[in-house]
Amino acid sequence: MYNSTLKLINIGNLVTYNHKLQEIDIIENTQLLIKGEKIDTVDKNISGAYSTFDCNGKLITPGFVDPHTHPVFSSGREEEFRLRLQGASYQEIAEKGGGINSSIQGVRDATVKKLVEVVTKRMDRFLKLGTTTIEAKSGYGLDVESELKSLEVLDIVNKNHPIDIIPTFLGAHSIPPEYKANQNGYIDLLCNEMIPAVAKQGIAKYCDVFCENGYFNVIQSRRILETAKQYGLIPRLHADEFEDSGAAELAAELGAVSADHLMAASDEGIAKMAEANITATLLPGTTFFLGSTNYAPVKKLVDAGVKIALATDYNPGSCHIQSMPFIISLACIYLGMKVEDTLIASTYNSAKTLNIENEVGSIEVGKKADLIIWDLEKLIEIPYNVTDLPIVKVIKNGQFVN
Ligand code: NIG
Ligand code: FE
Repeated sequence: MYNSTLKLINIGNLVTYNHKLQEIDIIENTQLLIKGEKIDTVDKNISGAYSTFDCNGKLITPGFVDPHTHPVFSSGREEEFRLRLQGASYQEIAEKGGGINSSIQGVRDATVKKLVEVVTKRMDRFLKLGTTTIEAKSGYGLDVESELKSLEVLDIVNKNHPIDIIPTFLGAHSIPPEYKANQNGYIDLLCNEMIPAVAKQGIAKYCDVFCENGYFNVIQSRRILETAKQYGLIPRLHADEFEDSGAAELAAELGAVSADHLMAASDEGIAKMAEANITATLLPGTTFFLGSTNYAPVKKLVDAGVKIALATDYNPGSCHIQSMPFIISLACIYLGMKVEDTLIASTYNSAKTLNIENEVGSIEVGKKADLIIWDLEKLIEIPYNVTDLPIVKVIKNGQFVN
């Protein structure tokens, strides 16, 4: 016997990526049966007496998979936002002691309990916004103890919250102040102590590096990610966000699961990514939140044959946005993506960068029942509604969570 069996009836439009056909499927007037945590049947007429939920002819999509977030921080950095409104750039603020390094002390001082509390609240919000699986990075502790603590927090929240969290170690987010005059000392610490300790802890699946001028150059990033690989952590990269530093090329060389940001990636970097089949995770929320107009070169990427994923990049500095529906609006308006492509990018392709596309990311028999029941009829109404949250119900692992 299954502990729960639920039939969704009167679904007007069921929209999902079909990876076998490699196109969007739109199934009209259908029903969907959930048994336990999984999707059991999608059919016009499912017989049998189950508990039912009437979708009132509305739209159903898979839950979002957000493949790039930084939720383990203590407090917001709204004063930096104010400084940017007065004309300071993200880089200027970082050079003056703001930016990533200004979030370090908060995490170092916080107890696990306190961080679990704030991260749980953030996950409640993500889930409400339709994100049912999320990649989440450490990266505001930047010493052995506080990085392990950040990952432990993610593990505790993951075990106690319906959302699925995939943890990434981002010790190479910035050079912490105590290593300012000894940058290679920090790379040594990362490779000789932090990565081995993170691997031993066994929580993180991925290792990320902020490969960017002023943070970690290509040589340092290569060393960190090669060490991570030896310890079983899979590489992903913050690549060429503000300037081209050859990070897209490095992602290709290392066979990373994803290269993220890419606003300043070179044509050569893009060609190498295409050759090595590296997904580009684009973060239009960051460009928007920083008040920039320099959006990622999505057309070049797509023309070269690179697959696109979309993420929020939720963090306290450069992008305080948690909503994937809003990211879809930005991707349509500013990246010029077709709404169907934004759905693929925020569900199936994003799941692929986390190696979980066989479990989540599309509505398919046997996959997890992670679904959004919208108060909308058609896909295009998601970006069209920009600031609304037209979600009736979110279902995670077969259970209603709102
Ligand atoms: O992805 N680029 C690096 N990390 C974040 C910024 C984090 C912060 O400012 O705290 C990003 O944009
Ligand atoms: Fe980021």
